[in-house]
Amino acid sequence: MSPFRLTRTLNDDTLDAALRHDVLHGLGSTPKTLPPKWLYDARGSELFEMITCLPEYYPTRDERELLRTHAPGIAAEAGARTLIELGSGSSEKTQHLLDALPDLHTYVPVDVSDSALDQAGRALARERPRLAVHALVADFTRTLDLPDTPGPRLLVFLGGTIGNLTPAERAEFLTSVRSLLGPGDAFLLGMDLVKDASVLVAAYDDAAGVTAEFNKNLLAVLNRELGADFVPDAFAHVARWNPADEWIEMRLRSLTRQTVKIPSLGLTVDFADGEELRTEVSAKFRRPGIARELHQAGLQMDRWWTTDTSSYGIALARPLP
Ligand code: SAH
Ligand code: AVI
Repeated sequence: MSPFRLTRTLNDDTLDAALRHDVLHGLGSTPKTLPPKWLYDARGSELFEMITCLPEYYPTRDERELLRTHAPGIAAEAGARTLIELGSGSSEKTQHLLDALPDLHTYVPVDVSDSALDQAGRALARERPRLAVHALVADFTRTLDLPDTPGPRLLVFLGGTIGNLTPAERAEFLTSVRSLLGPGDAFLLGMDLVKDASVLVAAYDDAAGVTAEFNKNLLAVLNRELGADFVPDAFAHVARWNPADEWIEMRLRSLTRQTVKIPSLGLTVDFADGEELRTEVSAKFRRPGIARELHQAGLQMDRWWTTDTSSYGIALARPLP
């Protein structure tokens, strides 16, 4: 078994303070919103893994296929000794990159989900005795303190999670990615692409109702962590394509007029009948737009791969001097 370390940069107190801040701010605004990172407690991570196997949810299959085909080329270009993955989750598709990087010294999976990181990191350390695995429980929208490991670095952000950031958050995020890279390092970004709205909506409103359960699990998180009294079945799951912003919006719609109490915040929150709480955006991209956003953050898109149907894309970028 190779060395496995798990560093928690988020303790219970900082997480609690961040959740309180986001709930006070997000449920106090009009329209009501909450950041999607709170969807991923242990149950949320489990539900996301179930989503990745749904017939309607193509992004995971598409990205896996792209990585399976192009990992050798990506690895040859990056020649990395340290692979850092933001929002790594189960690290399942990353295996193709790990297989293709023979000189890899350390893998650094970074995630807010302690349970997903611990499970994935331990399994990898067991299966890959020559690889050091240093997992980091951290919020990738904040400044990251990465371990001191040999370069070159390949920083990867897969699954289309970039789409869960708003444009302003994306600009800040990409700038912070740039600051983590030096000459010879590279950034690999996986993203879902704009396509027919009916395909997109089906991917976020599956027939089996798994995405609905994933969405409503957010209310269970608020009940457990803040003592709130949300009744998840008093809300309906909504997935809607927003053509102006080119993103899917995941929302929870109140099925009745109701008041929710959050005693640990001294807060009561009124919902009108039909009022919606936005729980996630999932932006879909076009090549010129993402190339521009990367460039604005000081990164140059060097390579671009898409599936045969142009459904999903992967970009390899390098820091501009
Ligand atoms: N990369 C994996 C998982 C995608 S799901 C895949 O492609 O299948 C999104 C992952 O990002 C989850 O594991 C979630 O816990 C994590 N995540 C979401 N917001 C985060 C944040 N702000 N900081 C760190 N991790 C985050
Ligand atoms: C993690 N992220 C890229 C997923 C997405 O497609 O936006 C989360 C998700 N939400 C609903 N289904 C999947």
